[in-house]
Amino acid sequence: MPWDLDDKDVCEYKVDPSNPDSIPKFVDELPVPKVLQPTKVLKSGAYYEVKMQQTKQRLHKYFPKTTVWGYNGTYPGPTIETLKDRPVMIKWMNFLPNKHFLPIDRTLHAAIDSPEVRTVVHLHGARVSPDSDGHPEAWFTQGYRERGPSFSREVYKYPNNQQAATLWYHDHALGITRLNVYSGLAGFYIIRDQLELRLNLPSGKYEIPLLIQDRTFNEDGSLFYPDGPAQPIPGASPSVVPIFFGNTILVNGKVWPYLNVEPRKYRFRLLNGSNSRTYTLRLSNGQKFYQIGTDGGLMETPVELDTLTIMPAERADVIINFSGSKHQNIILTNEDTDENTRNVMQFRVVLPLSDKDTSTIPETLYPLRHLDQNMAVKVRNLSIDTVIDRYGRPLFLLNNKMWDDPVSETPEFGSIEIWNLINLTAFPHPIHVHLVQFQVLDRIPFDVQHYRDTGEIKFTGEPVQPRASENGWKDTIMATPGEVTRIIMKFDGYTGDYVWHCHILEHEDYDMMRPLRVIKSYNT
Ligand code: C2O
Ligand code: CU
Ligand code: CU
Repeated sequence: MPWDLDDKDVCEYKVDPSNPDSIPKFVDELPVPKVLQPTKVLKSGAYYEVKMQQTKQRLHKYFPKTTVWGYNGTYPGPTIETLKDRPVMIKWMNFLPNKHFLPIDRTLHAAIDSPEVRTVVHLHGARVSPDSDGHPEAWFTQGYRERGPSFSREVYKYPNNQQAATLWYHDHALGITRLNVYSGLAGFYIIRDQLELRLNLPSGKYEIPLLIQDRTFNEDGSLFYPDGPAQPIPGASPSVVPIFFGNTILVNGKVWPYLNVEPRKYRFRLLNGSNSRTYTLRLSNGQKFYQIGTDGGLMETPVELDTLTIMPAERADVIINFSGSKHQNIILTNEDTDENTRNVMQFRVVLPLSDKDTSTIPETLYPLRHLDQNMAVKVRNLSIDTVIDRYGRPLFLLNNKMWDDPVSETPEFGSIEIWNLINLTAFPHPIHVHLVQFQVLDRIPFDVQHYRDTGEIKFTGEPVQPRASENGWKDTIMATPGEVTRIIMKFDGYTGDYVWHCHILEHEDYDMMRPLRVIKSYNT
């Protein structure tokens, strides 16, 4: 294997960052993002200041340094940790240059007449008031000099009034989210609670968040992002692309890293932070692992898995027990035909056991209150479809509406709704709803053509139960093609303006995002 290189034979190898075949795998140790310390701790909660900055970072041992954008100048951003119900305040500050280093499509909303580099931070999975949610039009530029129409505050407030969960913060600026996140603007936000702390799960250095992303590099090690489809679009260049897949996989900001582990249980908080790519993960030695949490927190009971499919923005909390795998090198693989993107990272079970592993995989984890279908006051039919725009490009839409069209999803505060995600396209879309965590009821095959012709759902088969890995609180769900994915949720917490969208960032930016307005209840 040419990849087993010692430092000294490096120079014999010509590494071309643009050619994944030439990049040695598993030569960098997995970095773990630092936990951010608060700037000050006030009576009202912990206060942080986070600066978005451009910086250069070595993403692979044999790459030149790559220009990235990071929170506090690091990619991924620092991890923010808190306890349930302990408020956090964050002043998000933009110290980025005024020019983007990736190609801007000026035909998209907001990109036409707004400043080129604009940012806004969304805490994905959090229940927060609308003015701290990171609305796509609440963007701001360097020093808050220019502000989007929905901008209302510099310091965001996170009450953390929700169960322990792996959340993540990332950029959400209208029309350029795909570019800002691709540049590096993403990080973990972890809420813990007493119930979880009592479970005796692997913790400390045995609990590691894993942010999985794909990227493509230019020869000089800079980030590559297409300036349009292979066939140039007259009148729209640069142009958004309908989907983007990188040819290189990074975990926590390193290309194909490895992690030395002890023969014991580890807890990994998996997050797919990729723009478009879905991963189906597996361990190369065929060993099983245990999922203990979904997007919104711990599940009722652990689920034993040998593969796990994770779409953009989804999280899965898993335990891997390496105790029976001493001296093995285990690759975390992705089901793929491509030799390179088939690899995610490597676990080397080479460390001696530092002390007895007393952590457990409890039989029951966390009580789950199942939302009752009979309590739903409203069922919404929401289509996922594609049309052709005036430049001849595919345009993905929710309910055939653009971002700018008047708000149509206006649930009443406190009400339970069922949303039928009716996917008329040929592939899955990760649909994300802000403010709430929902549950998946089922997926039911339906007649796509009949729906197109009549606007009516004609089911053609039996409901399919959610996958074992989806049995818990979710904020992002795979809406499968040819099926109606039925989700149920309660619009609790706040009234006001939020959004829901596809989390394939190329879709979200154009134009698969819709306003969501939680309105006051008429009965109270
Ligand atoms: Cu992770 Cu609205 O986004
Ligand atoms: Cu979100
Ligand atoms: Cu989509």
